[in-house]
Amino acid sequence: MVDTYKRTSNPMMHRPVVKPELVKWMRESQTQLSGEITEVLSFAKNNNIPVIPHETVLYFQMLLSLLRPKRILEIGTAIGFSALVMAQASPEAEIVTIDRNLEMIELAKENLSKYDHRQQIILKEGDAQEVLTELSGAFDIIFMDSAKSKYVEFLPRAMELLAPNGVILMDDIFQAGEILIPIMEIKRNQRALERGLRRLFDEVFDNPKYLTSVLPLGDGLLMIKRAE
Ligand SMILES: C[S@@+](CC[C@H](N)C(=O)[O-])C[C@H]1O[C@@H](n2cnc3c(N)ncnc32)[C@H](O)[C@@H]1O
Repeated sequence: MVDTYKRTSNPMMHRPVVKPELVKWMRESQTQLSGEITEVLSFAKNNNIPVIPHETVLYFQMLLSLLRPKRILEIGTAIGFSALVMAQASPEAEIVTIDRNLEMIELAKENLSKYDHRQQIILKEGDAQEVLTELSGAFDIIFMDSAKSKYVEFLPRAMELLAPNGVILMDDIFQAGEILIPIMEIKRNQRALERGLRRLFDEVFDNPKYLTSVLPLGDGLLMIKRAE
């Protein structure tokens, strides 16, 4: 199914979980992006399209340079910014990225044809739930940055597609701190998202099957891997 893209601004930009001065410092004092990719970033900023923030970009660069993944799967391409960041950080890797929104798909195609010089990135169009069934493993990194309520539903298939030592990363899990608020006190239209995230936490936290780590980068990044 193709949905209409809602350019809602990221709640985290207005209600940061980490002290605003520290977020500013993380974003401004570390190495800045340069080159062509900044054109994609400026487009995202000017058009209010949410993409991974700078501290997450730098974390991905670090993680990918340590893990040297051969295959990466991303759910939630938008205009291709994070996929291009990962392609740059892992020049040898193949990156499969999924999006279901037609407007985003068109913009991503334009950006990939301009900036994916090594043709590392394969864009799969459609709802991730469906596309995931058509993929085969193994992926060393699976990055979920799509509808947050669905992370828990994508998890079983993602685990099947994950390489033995692979890692899953899920973005925006703090929801600006709303995960701490009782469900009935959350706006009605946010409850499905919050219920999905809480089901995810119930499944993966304190479960001997998984190792998890929550990083306060951006609006919260959850890392999950199989326990040894
Ligand atoms: C936050 S944006 C992704 C940003 C991108 N990862 C980046 O940092 O450059 C989320 C994207 O996920 C897509 N999306 C949401 N739910 C999806 C689903 N179930 N299947 C495929 N794409 C989905 C939306 O269309 C949107 O383009």
